[in-house]
Amino acid sequence: MGKKVVFFLSTDKYPSPFDVLVIYDAGADAVVPCGGLELDDVRDLVLDAMFPRGPKGIVDTTIFIGGKDVDKCEKVLDIAKRAMFPPFEIAIAFDPAGACTTSAAMVAKVAKAVKEKLDKSLSDITVTILAGSGAVGSRAALLFAKDGARVVVGASRVEAAQKVAKEVNEKIGEERVRPAFVPRSISEDKGETYEACKDSDVVVSTAAPGVIKLPLEILKKLDKCRVVADVNAVPPLGIEGLKMDSDSEELIPGVYGIGPLSIGNVKLQAELKLIEKAINSKKGVFGHEEAYDLAKELVGV
Ligand SMILES: NC(=O)c1ccc[n+]([C@@H]2O[C@H](COP(=O)([O-])OP(=O)(O)OC[C@H]3O[C@@H](n4cnc5c(N)ncnc54)[C@H](OP(=O)(O)O)[C@@H]3O)[C@@H](O)[C@H]2O)c1
Repeated sequence: MGKKVVFFLSTDKYPSPFDVLVIYDAGADAVVPCGGLELDDVRDLVLDAMFPRGPKGIVDTTIFIGGKDVDKCEKVLDIAKRAMFPPFEIAIAFDPAGACTTSAAMVAKVAKAVKEKLDKSLSDITVTILAGSGAVGSRAALLFAKDGARVVVGASRVEAAQKVAKEVNEKIGEERVRPAFVPRSISEDKGETYEACKDSDVVVSTAAPGVIKLPLEILKKLDKCRVVADVNAVPPLGIEGLKMDSDSEELIPGVYGIGPLSIGNVKLQAELKLIEKAINSKKGVFGHEEAYDLAKELVGV
């Protein structure tokens, strides 16, 4: 058996140290960070990694695709897949901006809370995603909708929310996702945040770090809301009053909160397992769907 080598193709100038360390912890003997990647570089890099170890040795070579520019990473993945052909195929792990594993971990944790606290499944609920048109939010919308939830994607740029709703509805073949305007800053709110959340059993925030999206004052008025969750670990959290490490504890009477550290623990374990799978596989892409399966397995739902 050869050394397990992972080529980390990143659209960022400096490939994420977080991901580099997780790749080592997942079992790589060596990680080769290829940062500042342009789309024109991808095919040649992949071809160059395909041949030296021959059809048998290639099994010990893996690619990880990451970077903050998620759309660009999707294109990198597409070019990498198209560059390969049998028997020279390399397994690929895909988790740009941590969005696949973070959304997977959050939706799995919400599914567990909904089951344990409300005795329901995702197909019984409506969920509002505040700042839901970003990398994590849009992927969470897909997972919630795929599992049967009705989803409100709240965003300050309504066109972005409309785009997410259209794409997810097309993917699942049903109209389960709808857009809603939610102002970026709560100081500009004229009742839109309440309107977007008032019919939902679950409200999650996937906003940029340090931005309050749901003040306690509004949460207290949401009669239907029973579970809240937040992926942002930089204070203040998107859901006011939520504890970082809350693991379905009551935030206010009857409302259970899932904090970013609880989600982050599952995210990290899911990323480790996702990369481990890719490292130990001959070929295939290990991305969003696989991350969700792993996250559900990890939380036991
Ligand atoms: N817990 C974990 O393990 C983990 C892992 C990865 C990421 N995260 C966190 O997940 C969150 C979402 O990540 P992401 O990559 O999806 O973020 P993103 O795409 O950059 O932003 C998400 C949304 O936040 C809003 N936003 C952006 N810039 C803003 C600003 N300056 N002020 C107020 N709102 C702003 C936008 O929504 P609107 O257009 O609606 O305003 C945007 O669509 C971040 O807080 C990130 O730190 C957590």
